[in-house]
Amino acid sequence: MQRLYRKRIVLGVGGGIAAYKSAELVRRLLEQGAEVRVVMTRGGSEFITPLTLQALSGHPVHLDLLDPAAEAAMGHIELARWADLVLIAPATADLIARIAQGLANDLLTTLVLATDATVALAPAMNQAMWRDPATQANLDTVQARGLKLFGPASGSQACGDIGLGRMLEPTDLAHLAADCFQRQALTGKHVLITAGPTQENIDPVRYITNHSSGKMGFALAEAAIEAGARVTLVTGPVHLPTPDRASRIDVVSARDMLAACEAAMPCDILIASAAVADYRPEVIAAQKLKKDPATADGMLLRMVRNPDILATLSGRQDRPFSVGFAAETENLLDYAARKLRDKNLDLIVANDVANPSIGFNSEENACSVIDRQLNETLLPQTSKGKIARQLIALIATRIHQVQ
Ligand code: PMT
Repeated sequence: MQRLYRKRIVLGVGGGIAAYKSAELVRRLLEQGAEVRVVMTRGGSEFITPLTLQALSGHPVHLDLLDPAAEAAMGHIELARWADLVLIAPATADLIARIAQGLANDLLTTLVLATDATVALAPAMNQAMWRDPATQANLDTVQARGLKLFGPASGSQACGDIGLGRMLEPTDLAHLAADCFQRQALTGKHVLITAGPTQENIDPVRYITNHSSGKMGFALAEAAIEAGARVTLVTGPVHLPTPDRASRIDVVSARDMLAACEAAMPCDILIASAAVADYRPEVIAAQKLKKDPATADGMLLRMVRNPDILATLSGRQDRPFSVGFAAETENLLDYAARKLRDKNLDLIVANDVANPSIGFNSEENACSVIDRQLNETLLPQTSKGKIARQLIALIATRIHQVQ
């Protein structure tokens, strides 16, 4: 399991000999799924080249506070906001002293002041410098302000001394970085969500679709990400921004949606909130259909069944925990329960779409969640964001019960 999946880490590299280990640290963090941006002090860039860390992290290294080009791409305030964790490794005695004083005399110290994220220091210095009362007082100050200390370790040092002050090994630092993040309800789970409508073409300019806006599915994606999941969002044509950190795949027809979902498998949880067209025109006309005498009294459009995406995926051998939606205008609970059984689902969310203030293209929703034992949980009318969080919490409880 990648314990740092999609976590955003600013790695600050100070000017000590241990800076050579920061190259490996970048790799360890990436292996755990983190996104890494490197900020180096001038001293740091004397020990290891920015190019090495740029190549490993896949992003330009940030060096200067007053670099117009870097500030235009991702300025220090954006970087400070972007970070979930600022990890400074190596943190030299000088760097720790400057942080303790609250100085902002280079990019890294400015970032430490500007960020709301957790800041962790991995000290690296000569054992005598580590023991010095000034360094110890600075460490007390930064810890009292809530900064974390990772290490140091004891052992032989680059200068030939033996004692406390060695930087921890990159693998240990990556583990400690992961420990900064609480395990959430869906940490380590891959959640596949379908959203929005599908469009089934009749000819090059016409299609059959429905009123789904994608709001429910996108809210579910946000709630699942909030709960720590990795989210793949397969969506029909909608006008919504991609939720932060979701992998979005845009599709048009039901068959496209099925292909995209199959390519995204395996997943731990499938939530099918899309309003998928059950039928599509048997033939898509190559040219725009014309009014002509033969169709003066009307025309017949022959439709064929689309594949059922939810039933297909919940019928697989590597079947995920499967959650469907049932949008009904009558006999809500009966029809929903039937779909739960027919599509081999774990839960179904019954949506009364006869009420225009909930369901399709509305800001709010209300639903009943039904399980295999036909127990019903009512989620009263509220915003789709709140309904999504309640659904994700319910799914997280259920998935832990079946494991
Ligand atoms: O997008 P919004 O505007 O926010 O609206 C949200 C919503 C009303 C669309 C949503 O809450 C909802 O109810 N989605 C299901 C809509 C629907 O048409 O359901 P259904 O009863 O036709 O299908 C039952 C289940 O099978 C659904 O999970 C559906 O995604 C799935 N299905 C259906 C047909 C098909 N060919 N493949 C499928 O996977």
